Amino acid sequence: MRKLVAAGNWKMNTTLDSAGALASDLAKKVQQESSVEVILCPPFPYLTTVKEKVSGSSIKIGGQNCYHETEGAFTGETSVGMLQDIGCDWVILGHSERRHVMGETDADINKKTVAALEKGLGVILCVGELLEERQANKTNEVLQTQMEGGLSGVSAEALKNVIIAYEPVWAIGTGVTASTEEAESAHDFLRKWLTSNYNADVAESTRILYGGSVKPDNAEELMSQPNVDGALVGGASLKADSFGGIIDAA
Ligand code: G3P
Repeated sequence: MRKLVAAGNWKMNTTLDSAGALASDLAKKVQQESSVEVILCPPFPYLTTVKEKVSGSSIKIGGQNCYHETEGAFTGETSVGMLQDIGCDWVILGHSERRHVMGETDADINKKTVAALEKGLGVILCVGELLEERQANKTNEVLQTQMEGGLSGVSAEALKNVIIAYEPVWAIGTGVTASTEEAESAHDFLRKWLTSNYNADVAESTRILYGGSVKPDNAEELMSQPNVDGALVGGASLKADSFGGIIDAA
């Protein structure tokens, strides 16, 4: 049985005060023993504050990106070790905004994925197609390329520390959610990809999250699909009551 995940990607939102308050509110809700794995990914400057506020709960924290090099002259970058130093268990990699706004390639994402996993930092690897790719019936082709590229050289053992997040780009921040059938079909494809490229055990145990306009009122239906193991949430993770509703749905 895969433990469901509710992960909040706060993107470049919140302030020091609002991040702390949001984390405190969520910490009250999520007890030590929770049937749902809750992960908060605030902006880098607020990670330490959020970590402090969630102590005493089972909430984990994660970075929204990292760099593959360990240290040195890489202005503006954050290493895997730095994230671990301040208590991160996870890092989001390959988010569509990193791919399409910052121009990250599968090769870049792979270097970061390998570096994180080598040091034992869990990776939430995002994949997903653009609207024009879906309209051209290229969804599975895109997912396959991103999975092959992102996970190149990653062993079945290392994959235990990977969560896949399917985020169709056309559903991110648009209010348009993939239908349950569209989500389930992509998740089923991804799980089959894991079976063919790893093995049935890996495919069975890997969590595959859906992301893209998840809200309390659509979360339950999406997560009721056999291959949807939780949600990676943007906008609705910025309010304690809406993210709380999504945790409840999980
Ligand atoms: O990583 C989460 C994400 O991209 C979805 O954002 O605002 O559509 O929930 P949103």
